[in-house]
Amino acid sequence: MIYLKTNEEVERMRKSNDLLGRTLAEVAKVIRPGVTTAQLDKVAYEFIMDHHAIPACLGYEGYPATLCTSVNEQVVHGIPSDKVILKDGDIVSVDTCILLDGFHSDSAYTFPVGEVKPETLQLMKTTKEALYKGIEEAQTGHRLGDIGFAIQNHCEKAGYSVIREFVGHGIGKEMHEAPEVCNYGRRGNGIVLKSGMTLAIEPMIALGKRSILIEEDGWTARMIDRKPAAHYELSVCVRDGKADILSTFEYIKQVLGEHYI
Ligand code: MF3
Ligand code: CO
Repeated sequence: MIYLKTNEEVERMRKSNDLLGRTLAEVAKVIRPGVTTAQLDKVAYEFIMDHHAIPACLGYEGYPATLCTSVNEQVVHGIPSDKVILKDGDIVSVDTCILLDGFHSDSAYTFPVGEVKPETLQLMKTTKEALYKGIEEAQTGHRLGDIGFAIQNHCEKAGYSVIREFVGHGIGKEMHEAPEVCNYGRRGNGIVLKSGMTLAIEPMIALGKRSILIEEDGWTARMIDRKPAAHYELSVCVRDGKADILSTFEYIKQVLGEHYI
């Protein structure tokens, strides 16, 4: 069942997403060599609680933290820890969901830590571009496969691989709603998109081969070849002619300044 949101519901989702964008920017402010991923988690938890929202990942299917913090070859669902100390040259993908006024928002951003290798920065840049290419397809009358195709085409042209075990999703009253939004696909395939569908689009793209494994903690997904992976996610509402982007990297951009790529 795909729930089409009313305009009023979309505005509530926009508020949830705005707070999430500001949360990720608070995390961005403290990312530097020497910080632990547990410290990042604390910043996010306190900011969300201070704004009377609910950290929706915390306790979701038993997940133990507010943020997912996935470092370098980890792609998603890395668990924050005081044993994981970020160092110069790392990248860290920060992914989280909040619940505000009955609606979820979901967004992720891969941050550089200090000086990152050009080949890794290029992977990040291409993944973020692919997210926006996917978003461009999120308009009335297009099909779900158009989104996946746009993402896959952009990344594979650059020589990267698309991780297939994790996908984007519908979002709203539930964190994960129908439909699944694959980061690969064929033009013209899949369901027809309708105005009012709200989707979290989230390419997860690898520098090397696409195979992943789940680490012993039962959550962390990492690349088997230990090459880096990037992950960017925004939530959007399907509209006539142009997707309405509900979440925003604007606050992150303000914090990162010239390091925003
Ligand atoms: N943004 C992540 C997703 O869509 C949220 C995962 S929450 C977790 O899968 F609790 F499952 F980690
Ligand atoms: Co998501």
